[in-house]
Amino acid sequence: MENEITVNGLTFVPYITNEEIKTQVERVASEIRNDLRGCEPVFLCVLNGAFIFAADLIRAVDISDCKVCFVRYSSYEGTNSSGKVKTLMGLTEDLEGRDVVIVEDIVDTGLTASHMVDDIRKRNPRSIRFATLLHKPESSKTGFKPDYVAFSISPSFIIGYGLDLDGKARNLPDIYVIKDQAKC
Ligand code: IMP
Repeated sequence: MENEITVNGLTFVPYITNEEIKTQVERVASEIRNDLRGCEPVFLCVLNGAFIFAADLIRAVDISDCKVCFVRYSSYEGTNSSGKVKTLMGLTEDLEGRDVVIVEDIVDTGLTASHMVDDIRKRNPRSIRFATLLHKPESSKTGFKPDYVAFSISPSFIIGYGLDLDGKARNLPDIYVIKDQAKC
């Protein structure tokens, strides 16, 4: 079928276009801008998956007095969550009294997100907000609720716009879903 792509032997079909992503990124950015007006937020971009979303979102939020830092956790192997969250790259920035916005690619089981928020809370920030490009509410094992969500989706495996399958496909401008799991 036209527009299908194959990555590591798995077939994916188009799911969310770059145009639709731009519209929702702009909406989330304006929500964050309104909530953090007059603040000097610290954006924490969660590597690797959020690097493209964070770059677009943080520029669209357009608050000049902000900092951008990077953290890295890991819980996925292939197309399934391993259930164990490991911190791979920690934070050196002082977050005491700061307004923190965590920027993540996707909340699936919510284990990584919960682990991250607990980790950040120990650093005594003034506030923590959580922005995610995608949320799979039906996959939740924690009840974790992000503050900002660009798209709520069904529990299918997706790639593109930063999201990968074993390190591949992050550079696709659009988002694709694994074939036969596409149910909007
Ligand atoms: P969680 O801890 O189960 O919520 O998973 C969070 C992490 O799993 C995300 O940061 C992604 O790196 C990865 N992940 C979850 N769902 C997908 C997916 O559909 N495609 C690619 N990566 C995913």
